[in-house]
Amino acid sequence: MQKPLGTVISTDDSPTTLKYAFVLDEGSPVKKGQFIQTTSEEGIVFGYVSEITRANRYFERAESVAEYERENPISTHFPIKSWEYAIAEVRVLGRMEKRGEHYFQSRVSLPPSPGTKVIEADETLLKDFVGFVPNGLMLGKLQNHEVEAKIDMTRLFQKHLAILAMSGAGKSHLASVMLEELLDRPKEHGRVATVIIDIHGEYSGFKQDPTYGRKIRVINGKDITIPFRRLNSRMLSSWFSVPPAGQNELNKLLREMRTQEKNERQLFSVNDLIKRVETSSISKNIKDALMRPLYELRSINLITQSKENPKLRQQVLPGEMLVLDLSDLDDMRKKKVIVSYIADRLFRLRAKNEIPPTFFLVEEAHNFAPEKAKAAHNPSKSIIEKIAREGRKFGLALGVVSQRPVNLSTTTLSQCNTHILLRVTNPNDLKHIEESAEGIDSRMARSITSLKVGEGIIVGEAVRYPIFVEIRDRKSRKIEKGRPLHEQAIAYESEAKKSDEEQDEELEAFL
Ligand SMILES: Nc1ncnc2c1ncn2[C@@H]1O[C@H](COP(=O)(O)OP(=O)(O)OP(=O)(O)O)[C@@H](O)[C@H]1O
Ligand SMILES: [Mg+2]
Repeated sequence: MQKPLGTVISTDDSPTTLKYAFVLDEGSPVKKGQFIQTTSEEGIVFGYVSEITRANRYFERAESVAEYERENPISTHFPIKSWEYAIAEVRVLGRMEKRGEHYFQSRVSLPPSPGTKVIEADETLLKDFVGFVPNGLMLGKLQNHEVEAKIDMTRLFQKHLAILAMSGAGKSHLASVMLEELLDRPKEHGRVATVIIDIHGEYSGFKQDPTYGRKIRVINGKDITIPFRRLNSRMLSSWFSVPPAGQNELNKLLREMRTQEKNERQLFSVNDLIKRVETSSISKNIKDALMRPLYELRSINLITQSKENPKLRQQVLPGEMLVLDLSDLDDMRKKKVIVSYIADRLFRLRAKNEIPPTFFLVEEAHNFAPEKAKAAHNPSKSIIEKIAREGRKFGLALGVVSQRPVNLSTTTLSQCNTHILLRVTNPNDLKHIEESAEGIDSRMARSITSLKVGEGIIVGEAVRYPIFVEIRDRKSRKIEKGRPLHEQAIAYESEAKKSDEEQDEELEAFL
């Protein structure tokens, strides 16, 4: 049975069909942000505690309080405790009707009567209201309730997901929790493949994990290679802005070389391509224009004669995870080219159904799909935006993680129909989030600044109502990149000291 919490009261402007207030029973554990229910002639009226006020007659008049407190505290004269009471204000969310095993929401046309009892929210009703499902991804606990937040995978991913928060708020932690859920998911529930662009090498720890390790493949950035036969002028132009006049010529040459590869079993490199351009009959202007992108292509050292790594067709598998750990690469341009290539391949392979439905998670997404940058300077921007716009048709779900939402492409962000927001304090970022996340009001946006590490708000497609969630602990092994500063400082000084001592010893031995 659900606990009684209080009684609906009559105020100047409530109860109405939109809001009411109730006075809390003594010791009643009601909290701001809690879901509660009461009844009207229509049935269950479901609501949300939007604020709590406390009052006490004895403290209403400032001058008498001041007067008493000058001599002795009021509590020594009067039974003040027994005059304290609390009032909860409730936003009415809907009428909930039970049909079969589940509850369905409909509109409220009658307010609850003053005097009606308010009780705790029924667990099944609460889950149905928010849209939690038994085989959903368990990300944590619904705040103020003992209810697991099990988010429907399809609703979470189908129309893309953005995880936004300031640095250190727990984005990667949350992403890892989500990945554990995907890896744990049984076949019967429908498993997706996961591909991660891991910028800081945070996800490679999964490989060492005894439970998850066998489902993980980690590929280091410097080992990523693209075979020459995959090159085409469309790709090259998106990476290095090949002038339009050169694209046709380049395409012709590449096609020629591919045919030769096939028929004569010859292998080519970027150098061979450069030579062909040099010796071809293309006009000098175009030739010159083509050289810059070709030299750039050569300098990032990514194209090989035939070696392909990763082999997406074989390595993107249901219920498994492919981590592209780019933390060993310094060259930002190379990282962008890699992300562009992988995203493009995933899109194409998925469109042809050659890989399973896939969740493509991009960390530091503002670097790969920045708001302010022409596509030419940002090899990966247009393809990420394309996945954001069209990926859903093909079962390719995008997950973007960013600590700089302001710098993240608005096209991408607006296509992410679910936002998970952790702590954010920068006013520009907050404003941007408020504008781009549907269903987030200014009241909620304000509470984003007071979230603690590990607390988040989920809004959008994945839930029927914005909720606060306490993200659960990780089950998998975590690798810390970088020790805490004080430990590094101690290690540094003790090493320095040792070498001083060693020097002294050496000197003594010499003398
Ligand atoms: N729900 C949680 N429970 C326990 N610890 C957490 C939780 N969320 C985050 N942490 C811890 O807080 C720290 C910062 O988290 P995390 O690395 O995920 O932040 P981030 O938002 O990804 O930061 P950055 O922007 O720097 O990548 C980590 O040590 C992490 O383990
Ligand atoms: Mg992170």
